[in-house]
Amino acid sequence: MEDFKGKILVVDDEFDILSLLEGLFKRKGFFVKTAENAEKALMHLKAEDYDVVIADLIMPGKNGIDLLCEIKSLYPRTGVIVLTGHGTIESAVEAIKKGAFNYIKKPINPEYLFLLTDKIIELRRLEAHNIYLQNQLRQRYSFSQIIGKSHQMNNIFQLIQDVAQTQSTVLIRGESGTGKELIANAIHFNSLRKNNKLIRVNCAVLSENLLETELFGHVRGAFTGAYRDRMGRFEMANKGTIFLDEIGDVSLNVQVKLLRVLQESEFERVGGSKTLKVDARIIAATNKNLEHAIKKGEFREDLYYRLNVIPIEVPPLRERVEDIPLLARHFAEKHNEETVKNVKGLTQDALSVLMNYDWPGNVRELENVIERAVVLTKNEYIDHSDLQPLNGLSSPDSSLNLLDHKSLPEVMNNIEKQMIINTLKQCNWNKSIASRKLGIHRTTLLSKISKYEINI
Ligand SMILES: Nc1ncnc2c1ncn2[C@@H]1O[C@H](COP(=O)(O)OP(=O)(O)OP(=O)(O)O)[C@@H](O)[C@H]1O
Ligand SMILES: [Mg+2]
Repeated sequence: MEDFKGKILVVDDEFDILSLLEGLFKRKGFFVKTAENAEKALMHLKAEDYDVVIADLIMPGKNGIDLLCEIKSLYPRTGVIVLTGHGTIESAVEAIKKGAFNYIKKPINPEYLFLLTDKIIELRRLEAHNIYLQNQLRQRYSFSQIIGKSHQMNNIFQLIQDVAQTQSTVLIRGESGTGKELIANAIHFNSLRKNNKLIRVNCAVLSENLLETELFGHVRGAFTGAYRDRMGRFEMANKGTIFLDEIGDVSLNVQVKLLRVLQESEFERVGGSKTLKVDARIIAATNKNLEHAIKKGEFREDLYYRLNVIPIEVPPLRERVEDIPLLARHFAEKHNEETVKNVKGLTQDALSVLMNYDWPGNVRELENVIERAVVLTKNEYIDHSDLQPLNGLSSPDSSLNLLDHKSLPEVMNNIEKQMIINTLKQCNWNKSIASRKLGIHRTTLLSKISKYEINI
């Protein structure tokens, strides 16, 4: 196939024209098929990807314009040249409006026809090359679905590649929503363990006792309700990777046991006496300041050193502003596909609003904002007016808006509400973590959420 200069389909009810064009194009080294009506042409098109269709405008049955419309909707990348008979220039103009590449008058001037077909083929080649380049660019700016082109993200991509193949323990640190879990996944799926399991444990959501049995399993009768032996996450991760998410939230008691697994690769199930050996690579992540926690006596220093063999520091989004347009376009495209809308991108204004915002919820927040904009926008390009939620939420001048309120209690309430929303966002809407961060009791937080009618 590649030996042909291009593929041409000629459609005309006049036999003379078909054989004339077939001969002309074949001699020039093209692959040519002919059809005496639109129906037959469509059958050929189903079977083969043609570069150019040359179609007569007036044919019995389906005419050239209808055929053109069908080709444009089914095979938009195929170029169509229409043939017009006796000066039916109006219909030729109509054909161009409907997407024909050009028209040519009978009697046919072969040189002009060759010129047009060469042009179409060249355009198609450029288009294909363009798509290829775009894909390459996308790949260059992403690594295992992690998007970014800032030097910080490039360093992280390099680090992932360097450490993936080793057995070293990795500690990923960064604010909420910066992509720590994505990085953990990338390390596992680029490692020699990729065909074995990646087991994730969210250490923040389980109480101390539950976390312990979750990690190490238990034996029958270990506690009320333990009717049978149960395997823990470490055993499940054998030969694979265990991802200890939110490691900063583990209690001191469980920290001791984790330290032992890290040092000796062994542990016992809760209530059991048999020592089990495990071969699991450990990746941990946290958005907590562990050094601070060590000073306060909340985190063991020895465990910290065992975990912190390869530290990966993920910078907050506001420190890598050049990634914002790339991520925004990526999320717009993703949610556009999901919602079957016709959003083509973002306006420059919208991008500059995004680049000037400080993103306390980082990439997760950006994705939410873009998803909402894609769903709600009436435009082809997301504009700054579609980014309403950004106004007034921890933007640099939002504190000024607060003063618009009249009384002191009103101003205080407003500050409180914003602080709660921001903290909840930073904590991925986890109320327990947010209440701890805010220094208030969980029930107090719940009552304030309902008082301020915060939607979660
Ligand atoms: N660089 C990135 N490219 C593409 N998507 C990203 C990137 N960073 C984060 N995301 C997306 O943002 C969301 C949050 O990422 P992730 O869960 O990995 O963050 P995290 O750091 O683990 O947050 P948390 O501390 O709240 O658990 C996910 O949906 C993720 O797919
Ligand atoms: Mg996470």
